[in-house]
Amino acid sequence: MKQLHKQASVNYRRDEEMPGNQYSPKTLKHPRSLPRSINYLFREQRLLFVLVGVLIGSTFFILQPTLSRLGPSEARTAVTSSLSGSSSVVQSSNRGSQGIFQRRSVSGRVPADLGRRRLRIVVTGGAGFVGSHLVDKLIARGDEVIVIDNFFTGRKDNLVHLFGNPRFELIRHDVVEPILLEVDQIYHLACPASPVHYKYNPVKTIKTNVMGTLNMLGLAKRVGARFLLTSTSEVYGDPLEHPQKETYWGNVNPIGERSCYDEGKRTAETLTMDYHRGAGVEVRIARIFNTYGPRMCLDDGRVVSNFVAQAIRKQPMTVYGDGKQTRSFQYVSDLVWLTVI
Ligand SMILES: NC(=O)c1ccc[n+]([C@@H]2O[C@H](COP(=O)([O-])OP(=O)(O)OC[C@H]3O[C@@H](n4cnc5c(N)ncnc54)[C@H](O)[C@@H]3O)[C@@H](O)[C@H]2O)c1
Repeated sequence: MKQLHKQASVNYRRDEEMPGNQYSPKTLKHPRSLPRSINYLFREQRLLFVLVGVLIGSTFFILQPTLSRLGPSEARTAVTSSLSGSSSVVQSSNRGSQGIFQRRSVSGRVPADLGRRRLRIVVTGGAGFVGSHLVDKLIARGDEVIVIDNFFTGRKDNLVHLFGNPRFELIRHDVVEPILLEVDQIYHLACPASPVHYKYNPVKTIKTNVMGTLNMLGLAKRVGARFLLTSTSEVYGDPLEHPQKETYWGNVNPIGERSCYDEGKRTAETLTMDYHRGAGVEVRIARIFNTYGPRMCLDDGRVVSNFVAQAIRKQPMTVYGDGKQTRSFQYVSDLVWLTVI
């Protein structure tokens, strides 16, 4: 109590010493320091320099995302045009690889053979007959290729010549399971193609066609990749029209032994078009007819390989039925040339 009283009296004395008893350091500080800082800003055009700095900084941050997406030469063009007030920054970034290719060629700074942007491509079923030829074509074109295969019918031998190539990767994976990769294009071939193989495990065949295609389309949607499905002439079933036009919807048995393949491919086509219409995925469907060439499996029940195998073994060549049936044949390099997207 005593101490408190003392304190109070000291405080009172201090207050008494203040002029007019109204001294407040806070109220006096503001009016003095505010004009001083403003004066400081206005002196020697400092405010002007601050504003110019803010302008340059914000221009950089607005342009930065666009510039980081372009190469050095594009960046230079983009900066020039944006400073001159045109809208070509947005246009050029939307032009895609074709536009970049054209501009690089015109500038003449990049040799013509290096002008095309290298694509990252996944090929499912790339260890198989058609897939391995397609991989060869894409590697020869200068792209990076990732093969996904579970080696059900495919063989490493088909790709062994590419081992050690830095633009080639091989992943043992079943397309029935999802996978996440950053790619520009997806060629979806994974599926046993010959009757012997697709009838071996029909449930697995239809799962590969439906779930495998769903997984690959989901990937295409997520990463914005272009998608190609290798379908088959079997989607026409036992056709009533010859030759079959794309507008013909077929005559397919949904409950037969071959339905796992025929109906599986039909569903894969449906999914492909639904992803295109519903999610804007860029898609292609190739309905392939009988293809032959190196690396096809002997004894897989297809007509050309059967004839070749029997001829090699010096056996009589078997013609089923009355021999009047017709087939459309193509050599594998023609098919690969047509399916490259
Ligand atoms: N060759 C033809 O005449 C022909 C005709 C019509 C359609 N097609 C289609 O072309 C594609 C390739 O046919 P192909 O003749 O090269 O057949 P293929 O059997 O030689 O190749 C298929 C590849 O897919 C792989 N595969 C199968 N199931 C898989 C799975 N679940 N996950 C990962 N990989 C899997 C196999 O191991 C193989 O490497 C197939 O989609 C087929 O339906 C081919």
